[in-house]
Amino acid sequence: MSPVRPACGREALDPHDLKTVLSAEQIARRTAELGAEISARYAGEPLVAVCVLKGAFPFFADLVRHLTCAPELDFLQLASYGTGTCSSGRVVFRKDMDVPVDGKHVLVVEDIVDSGRSMEYLMGVLGNRGPKSLALAALIDKRERREVPVTVDFPGFTLNEGFVVGYGLDWAEQYRELPYVAEVVFRS
Ligand code: IMP
Ligand code: MG
Repeated sequence: MSPVRPACGREALDPHDLKTVLSAEQIARRTAELGAEISARYAGEPLVAVCVLKGAFPFFADLVRHLTCAPELDFLQLASYGTGTCSSGRVVFRKDMDVPVDGKHVLVVEDIVDSGRSMEYLMGVLGNRGPKSLALAALIDKRERREVPVTVDFPGFTLNEGFVVGYGLDWAEQYRELPYVAEVVFRS
Protein backbone atom coordinates (compact mmCIF):
# COMPACT_ATOMS: atom_id res chain seq x y z
CA MET A 1 0.00 0.00 0.00
CA SER A 2 1.40 3.42 -0.93
CA PRO A 3 1.76 5.99 1.85
CA VAL A 4 -0.85 8.76 2.03
CA ARG A 5 0.71 11.99 0.78
CA PRO A 6 -0.41 15.30 2.24
CA ALA A 7 -1.86 17.61 -0.42
CA CYS A 8 0.15 20.57 0.81
CA GLY A 9 3.56 21.25 2.31
CA ARG A 10 6.96 20.40 0.90
CA GLU A 11 5.72 17.31 -0.94
CA ALA A 12 3.48 19.53 -3.11
CA LEU A 13 6.42 21.62 -4.38
CA ASP A 14 8.11 20.82 -7.69
CA PRO A 15 10.98 18.35 -7.20
CA HIS A 16 14.07 20.22 -6.08
CA ASP A 17 17.25 20.22 -4.03
CA LEU A 18 18.67 22.94 -1.80
CA LYS A 19 22.19 24.35 -2.18
CA THR A 20 23.45 26.45 0.74
CA VAL A 21 24.51 29.92 -0.38
CA LEU A 22 24.79 31.73 2.99
CA SER A 23 25.72 29.74 6.08
CA ALA A 24 24.38 30.54 9.54
CA GLU A 25 27.90 31.65 10.53
CA GLN A 26 28.24 34.01 7.55
CA ILE A 27 24.83 35.51 8.30
CA ALA A 28 25.68 35.96 12.00
CA ARG A 29 28.99 37.68 11.22
CA ARG A 30 27.48 40.07 8.68
CA THR A 31 24.49 40.86 10.91
CA ALA A 32 26.84 41.87 13.74
CA GLU A 33 28.75 44.16 11.36
CA LEU A 34 25.54 45.78 10.15
CA GLY A 35 24.35 46.20 13.74
CA ALA A 36 27.54 48.07 14.64
CA GLU A 37 27.25 50.27 11.53
CA ILE A 38 23.59 51.09 12.21
CA SER A 39 24.24 51.75 15.92
CA ALA A 40 27.00 54.24 15.02
CA ARG A 41 24.81 55.96 12.41
CA TYR A 42 21.87 56.57 14.77
CA ALA A 43 23.66 57.05 18.12
CA GLY A 44 21.80 59.64 20.23
CA GLU A 45 18.98 59.95 17.66
CA PRO A 46 15.35 58.72 17.82
CA LEU A 47 15.10 55.57 15.70
CA VAL A 48 12.21 53.27 14.82
CA ALA A 49 13.33 49.95 13.33
CA VAL A 50 10.47 48.29 11.48
CA CYS A 51 10.36 44.64 10.45
CA VAL A 52 8.67 43.76 7.18
CA LEU A 53 6.75 40.56 7.95
CA LYS A 54 6.96 37.75 7.44
CA GLY A 55 10.29 37.20 5.70
CA ALA A 56 12.46 39.59 7.72
CA PHE A 57 11.61 38.15 11.15
CA PRO A 58 14.83 36.19 11.88
CA PHE A 59 17.08 38.88 10.36
CA PHE A 60 15.26 41.58 12.35
CA ALA A 61 15.44 39.61 15.61
CA ASP A 62 19.17 39.00 15.18
CA LEU A 63 19.95 42.51 13.91
CA VAL A 64 18.16 44.45 16.67
CA ARG A 65 20.07 42.51 19.32
CA HIS A 66 23.21 44.21 17.98
CA LEU A 67 21.71 47.72 18.17
CA THR A 68 23.03 49.90 20.97
CA CYS A 69 21.08 53.05 19.93
CA ALA A 70 17.85 52.28 21.88
CA PRO A 71 15.49 51.83 18.93
CA GLU A 72 11.73 51.52 19.11
CA LEU A 73 10.66 48.34 17.29
CA ASP A 74 7.61 47.87 15.11
CA PHE A 75 6.21 45.49 12.53
CA LEU A 76 4.29 45.79 9.28
CA GLN A 77 3.17 43.41 6.60
CA LEU A 78 2.67 43.94 2.90
CA ALA A 79 0.72 41.79 0.50
CA SER A 80 1.99 41.53 -3.03
CA TYR A 81 -0.17 39.77 -5.53
CA GLY A 82 1.49 36.71 -7.03
CA THR A 83 2.63 33.34 -5.68
CA GLY A 84 5.27 30.72 -6.31
CA THR A 85 8.79 31.89 -7.11
CA CYS A 86 7.77 35.17 -8.81
CA SER A 87 6.96 38.40 -7.06
CA SER A 88 4.48 40.70 -8.75
CA GLY A 89 3.79 44.35 -9.18
CA ARG A 90 0.78 45.27 -7.02
CA VAL A 91 1.51 45.95 -3.34
CA VAL A 92 -0.83 46.85 -0.45
CA PHE A 93 -0.58 46.97 3.36
CA ARG A 94 -1.88 43.92 5.22
CA LYS A 95 -0.76 45.31 8.59
CA ASP A 96 0.41 48.88 9.12
CA MET A 97 2.82 50.17 11.79
CA ASP A 98 1.58 51.13 15.27
CA VAL A 99 4.41 53.49 16.30
CA PRO A 100 4.20 57.07 14.92
CA VAL A 101 7.25 57.92 12.81
CA ASP A 102 7.07 61.71 12.40
CA GLY A 103 10.29 63.38 13.55
CA LYS A 104 12.08 60.04 14.03
CA HIS A 105 14.58 58.19 11.90
CA VAL A 106 12.99 55.12 10.34
CA LEU A 107 14.94 52.01 9.38
CA VAL A 108 12.96 49.50 7.33
CA VAL A 109 14.29 45.94 7.71
CA GLU A 110 13.44 43.64 4.79
CA ASP A 111 14.46 40.10 3.82
CA ILE A 112 15.27 40.55 0.14
CA VAL A 113 14.92 43.32 -2.43
CA ASP A 114 14.34 41.91 -5.90
CA SER A 115 12.47 44.02 -8.50
CA GLY A 116 12.28 46.76 -5.85
CA ARG A 117 8.54 47.25 -6.32
CA SER A 118 7.52 46.38 -2.73
CA MET A 119 10.12 48.72 -1.24
CA GLU A 120 9.41 51.48 -3.76
CA TYR A 121 5.81 51.42 -2.55
CA LEU A 122 6.65 51.17 1.16
CA MET A 123 9.39 53.83 1.19
CA GLY A 124 7.02 56.15 -0.71
CA VAL A 125 4.24 55.70 1.89
CA LEU A 126 6.55 56.03 4.93
CA GLY A 127 8.35 59.01 3.37
CA ASN A 128 5.02 60.89 3.38
CA ARG A 129 4.63 60.43 7.16
CA GLY A 130 7.27 63.01 8.06
CA PRO A 131 10.18 60.85 9.27
CA LYS A 132 13.44 62.61 10.10
CA SER A 133 15.09 60.19 7.69
CA LEU A 134 14.23 56.92 6.01
CA ALA A 135 16.65 54.08 5.29
CA LEU A 136 16.49 50.47 4.20
CA ALA A 137 18.35 47.41 5.50
CA ALA A 138 17.95 44.10 3.67
CA LEU A 139 19.52 40.72 4.27
CA ILE A 140 19.85 40.20 0.51
CA ASP A 141 20.07 42.76 -2.26
CA LYS A 142 19.33 41.25 -5.69
CA ARG A 143 20.63 44.44 -7.27
CA GLU A 144 20.82 43.25 -10.86
CA ARG A 145 17.12 42.32 -10.88
CA ARG A 146 15.91 45.83 -10.07
CA GLU A 147 13.02 47.13 -12.19
CA VAL A 148 12.59 50.38 -10.24
CA PRO A 149 15.30 52.44 -8.54
CA VAL A 150 15.51 51.39 -4.88
CA THR A 151 18.75 51.68 -2.90
CA VAL A 152 19.51 49.37 0.02
CA ASP A 153 21.40 51.55 2.52
CA PHE A 154 22.48 48.61 4.69
CA PRO A 155 22.79 45.50 2.49
CA GLY A 156 23.68 42.18 4.11
CA PHE A 157 24.66 40.30 0.98
CA THR A 158 24.35 40.80 -2.78
CA LEU A 159 23.07 37.84 -4.80
CA ASN A 160 22.31 38.03 -8.48
CA GLU A 161 20.40 35.00 -9.56
CA GLY A 162 18.41 32.09 -8.27
CA PHE A 163 15.42 31.73 -5.97
CA VAL A 164 16.53 31.43 -2.36
CA VAL A 165 14.83 30.15 0.79
CA GLY A 166 15.60 29.92 4.49
CA TYR A 167 16.30 32.33 7.36
CA GLY A 168 12.82 33.80 6.89
CA LEU A 169 12.60 33.48 3.12
CA ASP A 170 9.90 31.14 1.92
CA TRP A 171 8.67 29.17 -1.02
CA ALA A 172 4.91 28.76 -0.54
CA GLU A 173 5.40 29.28 3.26
CA GLN A 174 7.98 26.48 3.40
CA TYR A 175 11.60 26.70 4.59
CA ARG A 176 11.35 29.93 6.64
CA GLU A 177 12.73 28.05 9.68
CA LEU A 178 16.09 27.12 8.12
CA PRO A 179 19.02 28.79 9.96
CA TYR A 180 20.83 29.34 6.62
CA VAL A 181 19.93 30.58 3.11
CA ALA A 182 19.81 28.06 0.27
CA GLU A 183 19.16 28.24 -3.45
CA VAL A 184 16.32 26.12 -4.84
CA VAL A 185 17.74 23.90 -7.59
CA PHE A 186 15.01 22.28 -9.66
CA ARG A 187 15.48 18.65 -10.68
CA SER A 188 15.08 18.17 -14.41
P1 IMP B 1 10.24 42.82 -5.00
O1 IMP B 1 9.04 43.66 -4.74
O2 IMP B 1 10.29 42.25 -6.39
O3 IMP B 1 11.55 43.52 -4.65
O4 IMP B 1 10.11 41.51 -4.15
C1 IMP B 1 10.39 41.46 -2.85
C2 IMP B 1 9.69 40.26 -2.21
O5 IMP B 1 9.60 39.13 -3.09
C3 IMP B 1 10.53 39.82 -1.05
O6 IMP B 1 10.20 40.54 0.11
C4 IMP B 1 10.22 38.36 -0.98
O7 IMP B 1 9.04 38.17 -0.21
C5 IMP B 1 9.96 37.96 -2.41
N1 IMP B 1 11.17 37.38 -3.04
C6 IMP B 1 11.93 37.90 -4.01
N2 IMP B 1 12.95 37.10 -4.33
C7 IMP B 1 12.86 36.03 -3.50
C8 IMP B 1 13.63 34.83 -3.33
O8 IMP B 1 14.66 34.56 -3.99
N3 IMP B 1 13.20 33.97 -2.37
C9 IMP B 1 12.09 34.20 -1.60
N4 IMP B 1 11.34 35.30 -1.73
C10 IMP B 1 11.71 36.21 -2.68
MG1 MG C 1 9.61 40.34 2.00
